Amino acid sequence: MISTKEHISNKTEEIRKNIAGLNKEVRLLNGSMRQYTFFDNAASTPSFTTVRNKVNEAIDYYSAIHRGQGIKSFISTEAFDQAHDIVAKFVNACPKEYITIFVKNTTEAINKLSYRICLKPGDVILSSGMEHHSNDLPWRRNNFVDYIAVDDKGYLDMDDLETKVKQYGKRIKLITLTGASNVSGFVNPYHEVAEIAHSIGAKFCLDAAQLAPHRKIDMKPVDDPQHIDFLVMSAHKLYAPYGTGVLLCPREFCEEGDPEFVGGGMAAYVTHYETVWAGLPFKEEAGSPNTIGGIAMAAACKQLEKYGMDYVADHELELTRYLLQKFDNIPEIELLVETDYEKLEDKLGVITFNIKNLHYNYVGAILAHEYGIGVRTGCFCTHPYIAKLLQIDEDTAIKLKEDIICNRKVDLPGAIRVSFGIYNSFEEVDYLIDAIRNIVDGKIEGEYFVDDQSGLFEPKGYNFELNEYFSYD
Ligand SMILES: Cc1ncc(COP(=O)(O)O)c(C=O)c1O
Repeated sequence: MISTKEHISNKTEEIRKNIAGLNKEVRLLNGSMRQYTFFDNAASTPSFTTVRNKVNEAIDYYSAIHRGQGIKSFISTEAFDQAHDIVAKFVNACPKEYITIFVKNTTEAINKLSYRICLKPGDVILSSGMEHHSNDLPWRRNNFVDYIAVDDKGYLDMDDLETKVKQYGKRIKLITLTGASNVSGFVNPYHEVAEIAHSIGAKFCLDAAQLAPHRKIDMKPVDDPQHIDFLVMSAHKLYAPYGTGVLLCPREFCEEGDPEFVGGGMAAYVTHYETVWAGLPFKEEAGSPNTIGGIAMAAACKQLEKYGMDYVADHELELTRYLLQKFDNIPEIELLVETDYEKLEDKLGVITFNIKNLHYNYVGAILAHEYGIGVRTGCFCTHPYIAKLLQIDEDTAIKLKEDIICNRKVDLPGAIRVSFGIYNSFEEVDYLIDAIRNIVDGKIEGEYFVDDQSGLFEPKGYNFELNEYFSYD
């Protein structure tokens, strides 16, 4: 019998063949070339090759949709229409109950939704202390937003949610929550939160940007108390970086009210004084849509379903456990959230850390230039959560704000994030660990200079030339 790890390794080999550009080499500081190792999947994943192939197939038939009269228009229209249903099915949204609206990304989806949700003075939106700025700033523009606290370990504080529900009661009209954190990887009990929202007559919005590529999501029927009312996600985090995302909404919700964007394709009848909106989803997809991007997203959803979301979760769990166990033996590693092996199944493959006494951007630059490893460094568009996890006190926060206003970022706190995708291998994790051990032991080849304004580090003598990799000529 083959072990789970062997099974995962065999399947990883198969999946790696389906990742565009995985064999691409990059030039290191010492002049040698090395296959790129990518651990920033929480930001954006590479494309599945099958998705790229589908894009190429569709592009041969590309033509304006819905209003075109040629056969190619019929083909593109039908393919784009079907893409809506495929994406809806991926999160188990019944097409009779939910409408799928293609947008640019999660940020646009939330902005669009926040435009449509018009609350009265006194109404409250509850968000949380672990949100990406995209699931926070859009809501603040026209509404009063309060935040469900996170506890000292970085988990959503369900007791605080109960307190806030008692405090505001039916004034709460919406609870909006990330399915999983892009900093700690913690998966929130979002169905439980949805049920609490519904019990007080509020709606529930799930930011699935991080969750959707890694876990099976079930929006559930609208008469289920745990259902998700609104769901947003991005295709570029889902192996289809071709410029789309989606907003899923209850059909009834979209039927009412006026859309944010108006123009071509979304109006059925227009005089100089009057407009009748087109049906759904057209009313909400003004202008010529990103047809190819929608097709790509649907192809990625199908591909992920073929691999199986349970497989995705198991594979990433094993990689996460493996990395964390290795980190346990490196005392210089300072994890932003403590490892709880018992709760690892409720965490995505997102590991955020610092190396004692080393600037996160310095470590990131060494990994990039000396090892050809791509990670993310900084605050991950999640400042309040990072401030909480790094225990930034108020005086320090004031000083940091002044620094930012004076265009000096070098002293800003931050961290290094490694995030796994379906195709990452144990060998890649070993390579990362070797690199980190070398850095910890001071085995650093280059001499690095920091720019105080940007806070970024660059090695002396490294000349990046785009033309070496890509050119418009
Ligand atoms: C949890 C979460 N929400 C929202 C976003 C924004 O996604 P996008 O940049 O695709 O709009 C991100 C991006 O990293 C995220 O991690």
